[in-house]
Amino acid sequence: MGPPPRAERRPRRRGRQRHAGARLRPRRPASPPLAVEPVDLSSPLLRLDQPTPADAETIFAYCQDPLFEKYLTVPWPYTRAHADSFIAEYVPGGWASDLEYTWAVRAADAPELLGVIGFRVPDASLGYWLGAPHRGRGLIPEAQRLVIDWVFANGIVSTVNWQCLVGNMPSSRTAWRAGFTFTGEAPAVQVHRDGTYPPAWHGRLRATDDRAPKPGWPAGVAG
Ligand SMILES: CC(C)(COP(=O)(O)OP(=O)(O)OC[C@H]1O[C@@H](n2cnc3c(N)ncnc32)[C@H](O)[C@@H]1OP(=O)(O)O)[C@@H](O)C(=O)NCCC(=O)NCCS
Repeated sequence: MGPPPRAERRPRRRGRQRHAGARLRPRRPASPPLAVEPVDLSSPLLRLDQPTPADAETIFAYCQDPLFEKYLTVPWPYTRAHADSFIAEYVPGGWASDLEYTWAVRAADAPELLGVIGFRVPDASLGYWLGAPHRGRGLIPEAQRLVIDWVFANGIVSTVNWQCLVGNMPSSRTAWRAGFTFTGEAPAVQVHRDGTYPPAWHGRLRATDDRAPKPGWPAGVAG
């Protein structure tokens, strides 16, 4: 593991507005509010911060990727209005409601958005994507490490879950590389566009686990 993330959890400002759309999913069962403000996380390789309106066109362009239709729950077809609303409403709403913490993934030394990573609090799971030109550089395992270290360091959960739809080999490999233990195939936790919960591969990483790759992944993922 590298250095810990720089940012610490900070108390929420008093009187902060909540975004109405943030109540679409059920609140967590009675647990104390986490009072988390958006934080930036960084390493020598990456900076994770908030997406801004300047990122909208890039997000819109990357979200035309047919892999996103196949593997993600993003709206499809994905329009420019979806990108605008993701930045202005979905992301701040997730932080304000403590339901989902989302970051833009950027190189440490450049402002361009390369992808997105998020942590969904109700199921303690990671979601992420990279624009196609930025894959194959090991950026997502590093982004996962930053988010997971922050989640554990701030006591948000003691186990992070991971899932992908069956056969998403690049995503599985990032989780294998990050040290997740494969826990089996079961319906997806999140509902998909067609209203179903398709078969998914699941994994788990405990705060006490080392981050070495673990055996037991489906054929073709490890090694
Ligand atoms: C998942 C994603 C973020 C991973 O990006 P990345 O970290 O740059 O990873 P790559 O695309 O380089 O692939 C990761 C690894 O899988 C390997 N891989 C790719 N295709 C593979 C395949 N068909 N079989 C086995 N391994 C494969 C790559 O060689 C790479 O290995 P490495 O870590 O040893 O270099 C990216 O592929 C993506 O955005 N996909 C679409 C959205 C998505 O599926 N998100 C995840 C939802 S759970």
